[in-house]
Amino acid sequence: MNMQKPRGTEDLYYEKASELSALELMLRSLAMQYNYHEIRTPIFEAKDLFVRSVGAETDIVSKEMFELLDKKERAFVLRPEGTAPVIRSIIEDKLYGKYELPLKLFYLGSMFRYERPQHGRLRQFNQFGVEVVGAKNYLLDVEVILLGYNLLKTLGLTNLTLKLNYLTIGAARTKYLGVLTAFFREQTLCADCQIRVQKNPLRGLDCKIDHDKFSNAPKIYDYLTATENEEFVAIQKLLTKLGIPFTLDAQLVRGLDYYTGVVFEIVIGEAERKLTLLGGGRYDQLVHTFEPSLDYPAVGFALGLERLLLTLAANDIVLADEAYLDAYLICLSDHARYFAASLLLLLRASCFRVDCDYLTRSVKAQFKSLERLKAKNAIIIGDEELKKNVVKIKNQQTGKEQEVKFDKIITVLSKEKK
Ligand code: HAM
Repeated sequence: MNMQKPRGTEDLYYEKASELSALELMLRSLAMQYNYHEIRTPIFEAKDLFVRSVGAETDIVSKEMFELLDKKERAFVLRPEGTAPVIRSIIEDKLYGKYELPLKLFYLGSMFRYERPQHGRLRQFNQFGVEVVGAKNYLLDVEVILLGYNLLKTLGLTNLTLKLNYLTIGAARTKYLGVLTAFFREQTLCADCQIRVQKNPLRGLDCKIDHDKFSNAPKIYDYLTATENEEFVAIQKLLTKLGIPFTLDAQLVRGLDYYTGVVFEIVIGEAERKLTLLGGGRYDQLVHTFEPSLDYPAVGFALGLERLLLTLAANDIVLADEAYLDAYLICLSDHARYFAASLLLLLRASCFRVDCDYLTRSVKAQFKSLERLKAKNAIIIGDEELKKNVVKIKNQQTGKEQEVKFDKIITVLSKEKK
């Protein structure tokens, strides 16, 4: 067979699939604790949705989108991120008129970016994201940051760095961009940045090649308006009060153009080995850009699930219930196999995890399967037992074996489960 999965994609099975499912389950229940509601949007959307929100000059839109033309030659893309689709749905489905404001939404799903695959970077990856739409209140910025930070802490991760910056807008941004452009004129820029900084000087600060060289660039948070500064300080004060450590990073500009206020990322590890687990920020104008009659400020973040799973594995943190069976049926005859079908049905109806052999294997081989499947009990069924209306139940851990009447099997297994 010469068919292979596309580069930068993954097949998930058994342990890895269980880990992802367990993580999704945990994220769903956490989101619900914070009173967020689920939203699911299509996996492909009009290309223009991302051009107008994420920004035509960003790497995501200019280089990384998987583009599709439908039969009528309309341009669609596999969604590279979840924020723009959520905002589209809020406007198209008028969610702002149907549900309590602010809308507090979360999503789990696959995103697609045509990037060079490497450790923690895929072409199809999963994000957990939250978006709060319809309120401008720094308490919500803090709630969203707290949700992201606490979920990583709850999972047992340490060595986390929360980085904060504030992307001012309007005249203050224009003034800052002027100063930044002057700074870049004095620098030797890589070929990419020579073009990027002409279109959007902020992108220069994010340069993958020269990032460290620009640490003495003018800092955007020194150019905030009085109101913006007050808000940024209030966010920092509350984070400190809540015991959430952070560092200010004036070079944190994010790879998407829609941000209009505080932006943040949570990074784990240091230097070469560091990985950005989540990123987000406030984007107050996106609803208005899509639909000028509406004005709903918003804030949110997205977390990369594969990156988080890599990090959890590196820290020996396991989420999925270790695979096990409550019992494995050992059948000593054809008659016993026939009887096993009814017993399996009965036990599964009572919520036990049970299985038996379907390859007509020897008793020794059945016991080997039982061990491989980590069954806690063996239920041994033979012709002699069936004549007496009993089975033997052997606890694999203690070695204790007992003869159990058919009508007591569930009671005994329940006891063995404790
Ligand atoms: P982003 O920073 O582009 O933000 O992506 C968020 C997270 O997705 C990253 O921190 C990373 O963990 C994961 N991620 C991104 N690209 C890849 C990749 N190629 N492979 C694996 N994981 C990846 C957004 O997407 C914004 N929509 C976040 C947001 C929500 N801002 C406001 N609301």
